[in-house]
Amino acid sequence: MSDRRVIAVVGATGAQGSGLVRAILNDPAGGFAARALTRNVDSAKARALADLGAEVVAADVDDRASLERAFAGAWGAYCVTFFWEHFSPEKEKAQARAMAEAARVTGLQHVIWSTLEDTRRWVPLTDDRMPTLMGSYKVPHFDAKGESDRTFAELGVPTTYLLTSFYWDNLIHFGMGPKPAGDGTLAFTLPMGGAKLPGIAAADIGRCAYGIFKRGGELIGRTVGIAGEFLTGDEMAAALSKALGTAVRHNAVDPAVYRGFGFPGAEDLGNMFQFKRDFEDVFCGARDLAFSRSLNPELQTFDRWLAANAARIPRE
Ligand SMILES: NC(=O)c1ccc[n+]([C@@H]2O[C@H](COP(=O)([O-])OP(=O)(O)OC[C@H]3O[C@@H](n4cnc5c(N)ncnc54)[C@H](OP(=O)(O)O)[C@@H]3O)[C@@H](O)[C@H]2O)c1
Repeated sequence: MSDRRVIAVVGATGAQGSGLVRAILNDPAGGFAARALTRNVDSAKARALADLGAEVVAADVDDRASLERAFAGAWGAYCVTFFWEHFSPEKEKAQARAMAEAARVTGLQHVIWSTLEDTRRWVPLTDDRMPTLMGSYKVPHFDAKGESDRTFAELGVPTTYLLTSFYWDNLIHFGMGPKPAGDGTLAFTLPMGGAKLPGIAAADIGRCAYGIFKRGGELIGRTVGIAGEFLTGDEMAAALSKALGTAVRHNAVDPAVYRGFGFPGAEDLGNMFQFKRDFEDVFCGARDLAFSRSLNPELQTFDRWLAANAARIPRE
């Protein structure tokens, strides 16, 4: 145990982190040990990770000292922020900085930063094809992550920048599943027209991250984009129809309509989907399916993810 490289996993009870913790624990000969960070070591999810063999320690990304304690003695860390808990890009940037500073102070040898594009590189604030949000952002939950790449670099943290993709699990947990259309069919709303959406099973993100750590330092300083498959809304609707046994229609509303849906984060997500539609080549081009599979040979396609998860997709 003592000669294993300890990976401190932020968000270990969540979608991305739990996939990494499980990948480490499923490979006892791999030379790594999992340290699961959580705000509540007594929660059912935290206890389940401890039962599987993870070391579970308390940490809060809003509390840098707690991160330093949790990173101490580790070899590496997986760093992720939680935009949808607070909807604040400023807070997200502060959390990223706290993790980067804690990683530097504790001398970690390899950090994976779960990031996304700073869309303002392609759509500057002066570009009115989509509204500027919160004064300084086009896609706040993307831009804050992309802007934070610099923090890791400037602090000299040996970092792999991991560009993730849309979780297909959003169809279960994030209210993005098909809804009754009123005529006995279901409608799947995706405001991207005919553009392809890179998607991934959330659990595969952690498995790909494990593949990055296993490559030693090879990917330090590199930006790596992962996805399980690139699919249009029509293709996703067809796969959903097959898996659910009910006709699912693709409801390709305009991003402006999506922005007006009124739920918290609708404008941010409307801009996000418009960015993915308008910059399809850039966004898909930054994610490499074959490379993702080389990191994680178990990488799922949408059909395979649906075969295991369709029954969990709400239809209301
Ligand atoms: N949904 C998507 O399609 C998608 C795609 C790409 C990227 N993302 C990004 O993924 C990020 C979220 O990651 P996720 O989906 O893995 O999260 P998640 O499943 O929502 O899990 C969040 C976990 O993080 C922990 N957490 C929350 N606040 C914390 C804090 N202040 N300090 C320490 N731990 C905290 C919680 O654990 P405890 O309660 O145990 O502390 C929780 O289990 C977001 O920033 C989002 O933008 C999402």
